[in-house]
Amino acid sequence: MKGLILFILMIYTVDSLAQTADKPNYDESKVPEYTLPELLKTNDGVKVNNKQVWEAIRRPELIREFEDNIYGQMPQGFDRITYSFINDNKSAMEGKARLKEVLIKVFNKDQKLEINLILFIPNRAKRPSPAFLLINNRGKENTDPTRINKSDFWPAELLIDSGYAIAAFNVDELAPDQKDTYMNGVLRLYPEQLAANNGMRAIGAWAWGASRVMDYLLTDPDIDGKQIAVVGHSRGGKASLWAAAEDQRFALCITNCSGNTGAALARRQFGERIKTINTKFPYWFSPNYKKFNDQEALLPVDQHMLISMIAPRPVYATNASDDLWADPKGTYLSLQNAEPAYVLYGIKPNLPANSPAINEPIVNASLAYHIREGKHDLTLFDWINFIKFANYNFKKRAF
Ligand code: GCU
Repeated sequence: MKGLILFILMIYTVDSLAQTADKPNYDESKVPEYTLPELLKTNDGVKVNNKQVWEAIRRPELIREFEDNIYGQMPQGFDRITYSFINDNKSAMEGKARLKEVLIKVFNKDQKLEINLILFIPNRAKRPSPAFLLINNRGKENTDPTRINKSDFWPAELLIDSGYAIAAFNVDELAPDQKDTYMNGVLRLYPEQLAANNGMRAIGAWAWGASRVMDYLLTDPDIDGKQIAVVGHSRGGKASLWAAAEDQRFALCITNCSGNTGAALARRQFGERIKTINTKFPYWFSPNYKKFNDQEALLPVDQHMLISMIAPRPVYATNASDDLWADPKGTYLSLQNAEPAYVLYGIKPNLPANSPAINEPIVNASLAYHIREGKHDLTLFDWINFIKFANYNFKKRAF
């Protein structure tokens, strides 16, 4: 009898321990001690104190680490790309904008992928226009080209009135956001990726899509190819960071509430963790990333290095006050720890020691940040500040 009670007690204890391990931590005092991997030291132990060594050795090393351990490879080659206009309306949005609906087709190994790009260009502003490109992870309703449906997630009129072109594509065309169907997109062009432990998965495919849209935008005489910002919210914000890190043609990056495996430091183990994300979304990152479930300290990189790889190009990260899952403090720390890469380019981001108060954005900077009041979302407040940030960086500094 005694043995049986002891046995039941043991099972109960083991079970409740397991539950605690999987519960997100929202208590700052329970954040473990951690040391971030060194940003400015090469794998051979050489100190990086100028941008030449950074660009020739350290940055490529980091790209490889992120590809091999987290997001997977980014295939560059394909047989052919074509662009055709489904719609070209010079007087859309009551005459305020030109609407181009462009069908981008990418061919590789007898397979074809189609991306439907929606692009509004301001009529009353100087051409070529600077542009924002949204990696849209929230459905086509949010980017309605007819403007019958309007949404703060993609407030096209606001951008047009501010003198910016605004573009979007839907992530599902690149990799459906589902564990059983994600391979029915870019991965049909690169089937070998599916067999590789460091192979591309959905987030990599979405970032790849942003680069194909960039390929098109560089051919459009109405767009200033040197002033294109990539924007993403949450899972889309993980992809916008990865797109800007991999593709240096993006002049500016915005990552809204991107949290775990986005802008937030993994080692803090606050809110969402690697194991949680890999369990719920096993098709977002490479198979190799599973090795770091409950093993954040073993990662050769942390997310501040992802931001560093975008330097000297400006990055804006955000959070929302009700969204502790995305670890606001860990996001701010990530930006701060990316600063040394900017300093190599003679830029001193000078982020304040403490994160700014709620609704007090830091926008006139290379590394910008805000924490907005409210829930996990992409809102008008966010966009208004992204525009200020782009105004500051595009108009006041030449790239
Ligand atoms: C989930 C996921 C997050 C992700 C978010 C979103 O909450 O755990 O990592 O950022 O969905 O995309 O909205």
